[in-house]
Amino acid sequence: MAADLNEIVRYIEKNSDRYLQELFEFLRIPSISTDPERKQDVRKAAEFVADQLRKASMQRVEVFPTDGHPIVYGERVESKNKPTVLIYGHYDVQPVDPVNLWETGPFEPTIRNGELYARGAADDKGQIFIHFKSAEAFVETRQALPVNLKYLIEGEEEVGSSHLDEFIEKNRDLLKADVVVISDTAMFARGIPSICYGLRGLVYFQIDVRGPRQDLHSGTFGGTIANPAFVLAQLLAAMKDEKGRVTLPGFYDDVRNLTERERREFAALPFAEPAYKKELGVAELSGEEGFSPLERLWARPTFEVNGLLSGFTGEGAKTVLPATAMAKVSMRLVPDQQPEKIERLFEAHLQSITPQSVQLKVTRMHGGKPWVASLDHPALLAAANALEKGFGRRPVFQREGGSIPVVATFAERLKIPSVLMGIGLPDENAHAPNEKLDLGNFFGGIRSAAYFLEEFSRRAA
Ligand code: BES
Ligand code: ZN
Repeated sequence: MAADLNEIVRYIEKNSDRYLQELFEFLRIPSISTDPERKQDVRKAAEFVADQLRKASMQRVEVFPTDGHPIVYGERVESKNKPTVLIYGHYDVQPVDPVNLWETGPFEPTIRNGELYARGAADDKGQIFIHFKSAEAFVETRQALPVNLKYLIEGEEEVGSSHLDEFIEKNRDLLKADVVVISDTAMFARGIPSICYGLRGLVYFQIDVRGPRQDLHSGTFGGTIANPAFVLAQLLAAMKDEKGRVTLPGFYDDVRNLTERERREFAALPFAEPAYKKELGVAELSGEEGFSPLERLWARPTFEVNGLLSGFTGEGAKTVLPATAMAKVSMRLVPDQQPEKIERLFEAHLQSITPQSVQLKVTRMHGGKPWVASLDHPALLAAANALEKGFGRRPVFQREGGSIPVVATFAERLKIPSVLMGIGLPDENAHAPNEKLDLGNFFGGIRSAAYFLEEFSRRAA
């Protein structure tokens, strides 16, 4: 088999319009996993994925129901002697609000200036699509793949992958593979492809503070009882000190220190602080003292407030003492912090600092373990070569601040290494209005995904 993939690259070029039309169709399905009203749409997206896998000549395609959203599986076995690649990704998307800030409808894919705008364009429909089309192009031109190929495409990543671990445990044989390939992260910057070798983990809580039986007149009663909104603000403010460190006792106990080598490597990446501030619209950066922005982002844990709700927030003024206050908070974790342990520490700590004057309820939401890969697996070299061929530039190695909960499961439960070759960009508005995907990167991604299969088959042989 020829090592250059010229005819495959030509096939990808020739079919590029059709690829986009099919991706448009995928992006039109509003598969918002967190919204119960979209359940049927989520199912429709699963069926769409199954169709794509059939188009990509998978011999076996199945949509597995779960207690949540379905999991789509596909496989093509070429030969026992070939290595097996497992592609993981997700077909669910985040909610679209605030919808009035979208320039075109979130589910009406539109191309402007070489970018494809739609919810899910980058996270993750556009990115899983590159792996459907690389396989299709391979089989259409060569009637075979250089590896055995499996797909595991889920519909609950954006809500914490709650049914995936169980599915994986029950289907260990089905999912046997030599490597997992994931495209659900971003390149380091425009024109700089990257391989991501670390992800942060996550714990997420809802905090409810309850005061009096009902809302009260703040003049008649203010000054005699605790205000839940104020108590909640104090609790939250107490979670960090003036050096930007999280004050939860035990929080840093298991944090793995950055090695000098990693610090040097992070520092060598072309990170421009002024451009970063400008892009985000902030005058100053903020964070844990003693660490660079990339270190804080990729290798240090955080405590964040994701949402707040209490009292009167309508127009005008109302003198009221609210009965309740609510916050959604989360912590990004790094190796070797354990979500379970942090959850316990947080609940106990919050109870201990909450005054008797209010009632506290803490509810655990989703979470995920942090992950960092060892850099000596042959698949990483295969991915680096593949990205170089697809994008014309050698990738950098980086970590990410976001989470993909299943990656730790692949490592710990299935003992399969993961290679993260995302082709999004940091400014592609994932989870935000006007999410988009650069079309050049989309096609570079398809080419790279094809090169990866080829490179890996040779390296693993
Ligand atoms: N694609 C992201 C993961 C990601 C985010 C990678 C940022 C690199 C940078 C994924 O779809 C995602 O959003 N994950 C959630 C997981 C959570 C719901 C458990 C996240 O990170 O918030
Ligand atoms: Zn996401």
